[in-house]
Amino acid sequence: MKPSVKDLKEIFKPKLKPIIWNEEGKLTLLDQSALPFETAFVTLSSPDEVAAAIRTMKVRGAPAIGITASFAMVLAIKNESNLNQALVALSRAKPILDNARPTAVNLSWATSHMLSTARALVEKGEVRNTRELWSSLEAEAKRIYNEELEAELQMGLYGLDKISDGDTVLTQCNAGGLATGTGLGTALAPVKIAHALGIKVSVIAPETRPWLQGSRLTVYELMTDGVPVTLISDTAVGLVMYQRMVNSVMVGADRILQDGHVYNKIGTFKEAVIAHELGIPFYVLAPVTTFDLKSRAEDVIIEERDPNEVRTVRGVPIAPEGVNVYNPVFDVTPPKYVTALITEKGVIYPPFEKNVRKVIER
Ligand code: MRU
Repeated sequence: MKPSVKDLKEIFKPKLKPIIWNEEGKLTLLDQSALPFETAFVTLSSPDEVAAAIRTMKVRGAPAIGITASFAMVLAIKNESNLNQALVALSRAKPILDNARPTAVNLSWATSHMLSTARALVEKGEVRNTRELWSSLEAEAKRIYNEELEAELQMGLYGLDKISDGDTVLTQCNAGGLATGTGLGTALAPVKIAHALGIKVSVIAPETRPWLQGSRLTVYELMTDGVPVTLISDTAVGLVMYQRMVNSVMVGADRILQDGHVYNKIGTFKEAVIAHELGIPFYVLAPVTTFDLKSRAEDVIIEERDPNEVRTVRGVPIAPEGVNVYNPVFDVTPPKYVTALITEKGVIYPPFEKNVRKVIER
């Protein structure tokens, strides 16, 4: 019999805790830029510090930066002594956080949500002072965090239906519990749940140049959870698919438009096209907070990062100094290559133009 989300909470105990809220009003992050070589933590106490940590990818992954930003909005009112000043501080913090990274919509979703929650509490007179506003915002950020884990367990269960005993899943980047802050993940949820239920499943993880989320994070995370994983170079993706070494592709997303365009880590589009050509199912797993039903493709900014990420590998030069570099870190996969979008609200099949709204808005 298929387990429920409640059963899974007993079966799957996340081992990684990338985001820790200290009750005395500080945020501690597992520094993902140091993994897997060093387990270091950074403790932050202002939105500016949090924005810098997001920019430098001490925390990364769409849901994780959203959750982190919601705690940063709590930190924003730390030194405010009246409610009007607290609202001003929140309005100031929002663009600082939103501008830290432009592609993942979870970030601006979280800051907008925290700001509108605060405004509504003040307008309705539901909080009398900044101490009460702090408590309410803190509770809201914790709720966003807890709901993310619920969502991942639910989408993991939907994704489990796409896995058969003995399967191997190809992924991209790290769409695991490091990327969501919960220890479970989106694209990795079905395989982790399958593994916890005793279903034989393994993962092929491309290294994901230039930042190496695959080799540094996905491999580390799956090894921590005991899920069999094989690391490949990005250039081996075509061959492993051609040789039918994988049964499906499961990736996360940073933003999904209402017509089904999927923004995710650079290299995802290539996997989708090859999967389509070879008849391998290509699934995108993401919570509803990753859906952007307002923007059109031309509105979405694809982040470009420091050219030195490409010229070097962890500080070691691999190209002539000063070579011209183009370093986009996300790509866009058109809907025709996507077999299904798997969310906590259900599995969405094409035509996405018609079906995305139906599921996300229900
Ligand atoms: O640049 P990153 O590491 O933040 O990119 C992360 C990804 O592209 C993930 O696949 C995406 O955020 C989904 S995470 C569950």
